[in-house]
Amino acid sequence: MPPPPDLAGAVVRWQRSHGRHGLPWQGTRDPYRVWLSEVMLQQTQVAVVLEYYPRFLQRFPDVQALAEAPLDDVLALWSGLGYYSRARNLHRCAQAVVGQHGGRFPGTSTTLATLPGIGRSTAAAIAAFCFGERAAILDGNVKRVLTRALGFDGDLSSASQERALWQQAEALLPGEGIEAYTQGLMDLGSGVCTLRRPACLLCPLAAQCVAHAQGTPERYPVKTKKLRRGARTHALLWLEQGGRLWLVQRPGTGVWAGLWSLPEFDSRETLQALAAGWPGQGAWLPDIAHTLTHFDWTLQPLQWVWPDTPDAAALAPALPPGRWCTRTEALALGLPAPVRKLLERD
Ligand code: ADE
Repeated sequence: MPPPPDLAGAVVRWQRSHGRHGLPWQGTRDPYRVWLSEVMLQQTQVAVVLEYYPRFLQRFPDVQALAEAPLDDVLALWSGLGYYSRARNLHRCAQAVVGQHGGRFPGTSTTLATLPGIGRSTAAAIAAFCFGERAAILDGNVKRVLTRALGFDGDLSSASQERALWQQAEALLPGEGIEAYTQGLMDLGSGVCTLRRPACLLCPLAAQCVAHAQGTPERYPVKTKKLRRGARTHALLWLEQGGRLWLVQRPGTGVWAGLWSLPEFDSRETLQALAAGWPGQGAWLPDIAHTLTHFDWTLQPLQWVWPDTPDAAALAPALPPGRWCTRTEALALGLPAPVRKLLERD
């Protein structure tokens, strides 16, 4: 009989000697700091979070400061990190912690998971890192590590298979070392057990990994319903008058929800028709290609300068509701990254 596999022990030992250490959100058990890092890291690479995290903490040093801040300030600091629903939920979550939990984060994964923007896996990570709770994480990267190690070939498009994998993840938890285990699974998922061409030679689980033994790690995880990506094209209006530009706040749902941006139009033709009677002159700038989770977006900016005359100002009511801002004021707002880049052009 082979010895029983010790998957968790191998992860814990590997993390202690080869995993990531010394990141600014490690070495603290402050749930505010850990929570913030986990939310930032959900869809963003460590290298990028390293830039944003200290800036965010400097402006909002604790959950109270974040809860009291205007949402626009939170979005402005989030600008460029993408997935802005994270920032809105972060703000709502801070307000819930202050309003409903006396300013202290709840001390269990189950209660953490009731807060806005904290899913089951994030709640488990916070509880493991801050309270040493034995709770299983299962984000996209960890699903890849575990399905491969276990040879779990159930279809994760199905809720029952997903539940079964959660059960397996819980059954694997180590008796001690939950912090190193949790961090180790994340480190393996992001740096070793990658989507394509995993580095099995470096992996502490290779000797017991079913997918590695089969020689087909990239076959896992199995998910039949793939995201279907689309493509969209819109026009953007960069309208200036007297050194100020017209910005609109985007609706509370959808892409770039709640951010300030240039007015968006269905098509070049729609915007061209609106601008047909305008004084001054405009020019179409090069297309901007922007990739989102669900679609590739092409944005076609029209830059137009209105002359500084009263009859031009009278045209403002025809614009979508918004406000005039100087460029400096605009850059201090929560702008989508491609719009910020555009406005930073000379
Ligand atoms: N992804 C989510 N949480 C993480 C963490 N704590 N370290 C590295 N990658 C992560």
